Amino acid sequence: MSSASIEHTIDGVRAHVARARAEGRTVALVPTMGALHAGHVSLVQRASELADTVIVSIFVNPLQFGQGEDFDRYPRTLDADVAALAKHPVSLVFAPDAAEMYPGGASQTRITAGPVASLFEGAVRPGHFDGMLTVVAKLLNIVQPDVAVFGQKDAQQLFLVRRMVAELNLPVRIDAAPIVREPGGLALSSRNRYLSAEEKRAALVLSTALAAAADAGAQGADAARAAAHEVARAEPGAVLDYAELVDPATFKPVAGDFAGEALAIIAARVGATRLIDNRATRIR
Ligand code: PAF
Repeated sequence: MSSASIEHTIDGVRAHVARARAEGRTVALVPTMGALHAGHVSLVQRASELADTVIVSIFVNPLQFGQGEDFDRYPRTLDADVAALAKHPVSLVFAPDAAEMYPGGASQTRITAGPVASLFEGAVRPGHFDGMLTVVAKLLNIVQPDVAVFGQKDAQQLFLVRRMVAELNLPVRIDAAPIVREPGGLALSSRNRYLSAEEKRAALVLSTALAAAADAGAQGADAARAAAHEVARAEPGAVLDYAELVDPATFKPVAGDFAGEALAIIAARVGATRLIDNRATRIR
């Protein structure tokens, strides 16, 4: 067990990394927005297997929230997060405020995520992925880790981060940790804490719709898509946004004659809360 120290400044985190490097230690970054749960802990565990020094960043990035989204009510639980991380192999928690990250106000320079950023999550959250990539690029530049660990749950985010790192030749390895689920199948998310007990029950439809897609995969992509839609639409407590099968290499919907490993993705609104999930799905 370790006790993580907390650092609020960029100079401070850079000094911490420099000390680790001077001791010959490798560095992993786990970028988060806080409100940590067991899914984040799994990222930390994975990071600790990949590098000697684990840095967790906690920053609710205003750039990736649009008008009318939950930026103001997004849970901010820094003390509880730091206490929770003290039980895990974390060397430093980097928790800057907005003035530290964006001293001139909202950054004028942005990473543009490209056409995939206007599909799925990007279609309902315009600008979200540009803001997300911009802060991820900043965090990678600040910490300069050997590896950064992201959750597979945010599959479109992970795809775009990987592409940014490849296309901008950023010297970091991106690692993905599997989704952590509650016993009923609900994928862990910081936003789950918005759900009432009844909404939590309704939210199970996301994982059951994905399971239906996987079961129908042997009959082809169209059958798998239809199976997910049928299950999702049968749940009155959830409003389906999309249920799709995408090619993991492009994040574009697969054609009806696709064969191979696809990614089934789903988003639905349960009460006021938008939830997402995904599952690797073999087609044919
Ligand atoms: O997945 C998240 O929590 C955020 O999008 C990230 C990667 C920390 C960037 O703000």
